[in-house]
Amino acid sequence: MTLLLTPRDVAHIVRAQGVAGSLQRLSRAIEADFRRWGDFDKSARTASHSREGVIELMPISDGTTYTFKYVNGHPGNTQLGLPTVMAFGGLADVATGQPEVLSELTLTTALRTAATSALAARWLARPGSRTMALIGNGAQSEFQALAFHHLLGIDEIRLFDIDIAATAKLRRNLRSVRGLKLLACASTAHAVRGADIVTTVTADKARAAILTAGMVEPGMHINAVGGDCPGKTELHRDVLRMARVVVEYEPQTRIEGDIQQLPADFAVTELWQVLQGNSPGRDDARQVTVFDSVGFALEDFSALRWLRDSARELGIGAAAQLVPALDDPKDLFALLSAPLPHRTPGSEAPADALQSV
Ligand SMILES: NC(=O)c1ccc[n+]([C@@H]2O[C@H](COP(=O)([O-])OP(=O)(O)OC[C@H]3O[C@@H](n4cnc5c(N)ncnc54)[C@H](O)[C@@H]3O)[C@@H](O)[C@H]2O)c1
Repeated sequence: MTLLLTPRDVAHIVRAQGVAGSLQRLSRAIEADFRRWGDFDKSARTASHSREGVIELMPISDGTTYTFKYVNGHPGNTQLGLPTVMAFGGLADVATGQPEVLSELTLTTALRTAATSALAARWLARPGSRTMALIGNGAQSEFQALAFHHLLGIDEIRLFDIDIAATAKLRRNLRSVRGLKLLACASTAHAVRGADIVTTVTADKARAAILTAGMVEPGMHINAVGGDCPGKTELHRDVLRMARVVVEYEPQTRIEGDIQQLPADFAVTELWQVLQGNSPGRDDARQVTVFDSVGFALEDFSALRWLRDSARELGIGAAAQLVPALDDPKDLFALLSAPLPHRTPGSEAPADALQSV
């Protein structure tokens, strides 16, 4: 049987562990996996581009466990009543190929992206950072805000979105978070002024320059999340040129990250090198640092294992018969003559397809 986790199941896990607890567990799991970088069979994701967006597949394995994620990015989707980013994925046993988990990964992507952003900032931002500008206040934004608040001690966040309703939604959602001050700003330049950290998490299918060199102050850390696809950037190239740039997996980021605007020999450091202590996070308090985040399969690998272990611990999810259970594994044909499950019109799934765990 395969453990099936819906968005409601994942929300149940997050509520049981608390948002802060979930982000902490995820961040620890992601850090532990980045530290054993050499164990993984890695590849840049496979992307299928269209006029409206992109659909990507993200596989990875450590030789024992294999995971994959399906994820899209369609910046126009919210006008159709759909999220910009939607995802699902699975975890399988390498020894047999048996799928162990099939899970929603939309909510999980927001959590793992925020946990990764905060993890990178712990090494790259100036110690004692307290204020962050958060540009783009859509689906990912609350998770980014909470990760920086709970994992890094950011207590003031200056918000800007071209859609004032998105900023109002973020303030409403986080109004009861104690010790977190949220300020709506009139422009990116206004939000960024004096901030220790700048997170850009906008969605636009364009070579945007949300942040220009004139807005960047000495010592700032920039967490660039929304530039994650060919032709889709957030930072002006001069911002990258003035900074120390850290990436997840260089072969993928060269294609998808903000550094796609620069020549292939522009120097970058992979995050695992910083986490393993091979490379410093920042050289001094005045250095500008950039985490050019695009999202790497390893973060979903860590997240899927966290989901599996948490679901088992809490008894959440359903067991689904995703692959056939056969008396004789060579007799797949027998399935065609097995009695069919009784199905009442309008029911969601036949009774034998899903079982509570
Ligand atoms: N790096 C990663 O691992 C990762 C993971 C998930 C999502 N993303 C990316 O993050 C971005 C945001 O995702 P989301 O799910 O929050 O999307 P969303 O559509 O819910 O929100 C995006 C917000 O950006 C705002 N925006 C667009 N252009 C802007 C501009 N010039 N200035 C200020 N705000 C602007 C929009 O009004 C919207 O509110 C997307 O580009 C997505 O592809 C990256």
